[in-house]
Amino acid sequence: MMLERGLDFVSMPKIELHAHLTGSISRQCLHEIWEVKKAAGKTDLEDPLLVMPPGRHDYDLKTFFPLFSSYIYNLVNDAGSLEHSTKSVIRDFARDGVVYLELRTTPRAMPLAGLDKAGYVGAVLRAIEDAQEEAPMLHTRLILSIDRRNTLDEAGEVVALAKLFRDRGVVAVDLCGDPTKGDVSLFTPVLEEAKAAGLKTTIHFAEAEASASEAELSTIMSWMPDRLGHVIHVPETVKRQIAELSGIGLELCLSCNVHAKMIVGSFEAHHFGEWWRVDGPIVVPCTDDVGVFGSPLSNEWRLIQKHFNLQREEILGLARKGIDVIFAGDDERERLRGVMW
Ligand code: IMP
Ligand code: ZN
Repeated sequence: MMLERGLDFVSMPKIELHAHLTGSISRQCLHEIWEVKKAAGKTDLEDPLLVMPPGRHDYDLKTFFPLFSSYIYNLVNDAGSLEHSTKSVIRDFARDGVVYLELRTTPRAMPLAGLDKAGYVGAVLRAIEDAQEEAPMLHTRLILSIDRRNTLDEAGEVVALAKLFRDRGVVAVDLCGDPTKGDVSLFTPVLEEAKAAGLKTTIHFAEAEASASEAELSTIMSWMPDRLGHVIHVPETVKRQIAELSGIGLELCLSCNVHAKMIVGSFEAHHFGEWWRVDGPIVVPCTDDVGVFGSPLSNEWRLIQKHFNLQREEILGLARKGIDVIFAGDDERERLRGVMW
């Protein structure tokens, strides 16, 4: 279906590669979970629609992380709400025209609900399997996240879970979390273990000044990750290094970076403009946390067209290039080559 400027971005089949599960839950879905728990006397939390008023998207690095640790994690705290919210997230992506989704999540024990981290991953995978039956056009894979605040043992547990659940659709390991916390060099042995086991890796990279020291960036580059997320505060020497890496994926999250003031200026100043034409790396526009920043993937493409003036063929070509950096196998790539315009 065509609109006056050429493309209907909802109908356009799209790939989403950087979406944090909990950050992708819509406020309406959180509200529904809250309503049920409130009626059953199972929560004292305030209504999510009051805590995160619809239309508020200006969460920055100081307000963003506490939103999870002090609120959403206390609401989505049992297998039922976890599975319900996971299905809701996948349904939202399907309605937005996403045909391939890599969701990522940090395994989290829910002791009050009797769920350990393996139980958490199992519940998410069950929900993914159910959602796949409901919306067969959207295929979903799972990435397990190591949090920067993890100990080496906790990070090792994430890799062990990724290996354990590989045959149910876990494809990779991510490193995320508050960029002002932690020392990433701690994780070198577990990242090496993940790679040795044949898992893919994607790493949050230079998303804040605090996580862009020369030491941190060179440690991460030494892991030779398959994809990098954000790629904001990157010195010229490291940019040149990335530019020479043929086939590395760059997951760029425009609305998140603008709303959270992670870049100076607005959309037209986003480094998407700098990277999308560069030959080696493959740029993939992503939402990061659509529940928080409120911009679905179709809107990210609309913003790209608006602020960077890409032509129809350039947009479709870029969207299709994303197929090369998905973490699923050749069968899935073939399917996507068939369904993407
Ligand atoms: P979850 O892993 O499914 O619980 O998704 C939410 C978590 O993802 C947050 O608690 C953060 O640790 C992480 N996260 C979400 N967005 C970002 C980001 O932009 N940078 C780093 N970590 C993030
Ligand atoms: Zn992220």
